[in-house]
Amino acid sequence: MKRLAPVLLLVAAALAWPSTAAAKTCELSITGNDQMKYNKSELVVGADCDKVKLTLEHVGKMSVEQMGHNWVLAKSSEYKSLAQAGMKAGMKNEYIPQGDDRVIAHTGLVGGGETSSVTFDVSGLEAGGDYTFFCSFPGHYGIMNGKFVIKG
Ligand code: CU
Repeated sequence: MKRLAPVLLLVAAALAWPSTAAAKTCELSITGNDQMKYNKSELVVGADCDKVKLTLEHVGKMSVEQMGHNWVLAKSSEYKSLAQAGMKAGMKNEYIPQGDDRVIAHTGLVGGGETSSVTFDVSGLEAGGDYTFFCSFPGHYGIMNGKFVIKG
């Protein structure tokens, strides 16, 4: 029995591990409106967040075909080219190029009164890295963009 104790301790530690190392999910929210604007130009999360749940609410009344919004995250150096690719992907893909590595995360495309959320892993992103969020609906990214900051 004495010789089993260390083994049992190890087993107990292994069982306890998942709960002590539970992934931390941080929540963010942003709105888009009929004036083609987000309500935030910067979103900040702590470096201790493993995942982020981002919720986009369209607080306007216009339809998704006229004034659709989404929320797409990319490296700042890539977001403009990604926005161009999104436009080409078309409405059938909700203006997201399929299988494109530049997309770190994206919500669905919403019209007035609708909400869409996305939960994504940020543990692989760099604290202090340069990331930009934007709307990939045609013609929107020039105004609808902002910085995504991971505070170290
Ligand atoms: Cu938009």
